[in-house]
Amino acid sequence: MTVSAPVSTPKSRVLIVGAAGFIGQFVTEASIDSGRPTYLLVGSMSSCKAKIVKDLQDKGAVVLNGSMSDKELMEKILREHEIDIVISAAGGSIILDQLPLVEAIKAVGTVKRFLPSEFGHDVTRTDPVEPGLNMYNEKRKVRRLIEELGVPYTYICCNSIASWPYYDNHHPSQVLPPLDQFQIYGDGTVKAYFVAGSDIGKFTMRTVDDIRTLNKSVHFRPSCNFYNINELASLWEKKIGRTLPRITVTENDLLAAAAENRLPQSVVASFTHDIFIKGCQINFTIDGPHDIEVTDLYPDEQFRTLDDCFNDFALKINHKSTAADPITSLFNAATGA
Ligand SMILES: NC(=O)c1ccc[n+]([C@@H]2O[C@H](COP(=O)([O-])OP(=O)(O)OC[C@H]3O[C@@H](n4cnc5c(N)ncnc54)[C@H](OP(=O)(O)O)[C@@H]3O)[C@@H](O)[C@H]2O)c1
Repeated sequence: MTVSAPVSTPKSRVLIVGAAGFIGQFVTEASIDSGRPTYLLVGSMSSCKAKIVKDLQDKGAVVLNGSMSDKELMEKILREHEIDIVISAAGGSIILDQLPLVEAIKAVGTVKRFLPSEFGHDVTRTDPVEPGLNMYNEKRKVRRLIEELGVPYTYICCNSIASWPYYDNHHPSQVLPPLDQFQIYGDGTVKAYFVAGSDIGKFTMRTVDDIRTLNKSVHFRPSCNFYNINELASLWEKKIGRTLPRITVTENDLLAAAAENRLPQSVVASFTHDIFIKGCQINFTIDGPHDIEVTDLYPDEQFRTLDDCFNDFALKINHKSTAADPITSLFNAATGA
């Protein structure tokens, strides 16, 4: 289904919280690229975060200091900078810090759209085991306050980031897919959607002043990136030009890893169980009054394919290796390089 054309206000002023974070960087780059005045709320930073923020500043972002948990400061910032759109990409451990920010948005009354830190699954439709459930409960609490106060919102349900989904790793897209063996969850046949980080940023920014996404959950289900773990393994094998052993990780293995309650590994294990055993991304249809699919909104916009993203991973191996390295030779042979 294609939905009729948007009415947009191209130069909305955007405030981004968590801009130096993993998801926040993609959103911030896309906001700057879209030509919108982009403000970054930045707190105390490690030197690695400071470098990221400096790079974003050099690209045109304006840095503001403070914490989103300081309601009065947030009201001042929103008023002084006439912010139209607020996007939070706050990390999983500080989801509830968004509550004062929501109250500040309500008090100011001029923000046209708030995107809370979601950027994953539809938290009202899926119930991972603990400790993942706790994060979802916190995200649900933020949603409840937004809706109770009547703050205009869009929830971005972008599903999985394009990568090999390691259940014991926090940010899988920063890590190469396996080169020794694959861990296959269950029988490896449950499908999921994989979206490039740059597309999470790009399509998020398409929604922010699109009237069709007001008070809606926007689901990212690009058909070109719909894979199960067995297919993902075969795709990667094609890139590296060899096959790897496949080890089964059972449902019980994932539940045991979740029950260990080690952070962040156990949170990721509980989400892995939810995605690749329970099928949480695909066990519902997008037909509620508050749901919309991103490819229905922007049918002419291409998503980066997972195939392409895996080419990038393979190139990283190529760059790291010497010509004598067997993986490089295999990769060169496989790609004709
Ligand atoms: N779909 C997926 O595959 C996927 C993958 C990862 C994450 N996610 C989701 O994306 C969202 C963002 O997660 P992430 O992992 O990208 O987060 P992250 O990398 O941990 O980054 C969070 C950012 O928030 C900043 N921050 C912390 N406290 C703050 C405060 N009080 N005020 C202002 N800024 C503050 C942090 O800065 P400091 O570090 O300087 O404090 C950091 O830059 C989460 O909802 C997460 O569940 C989805």
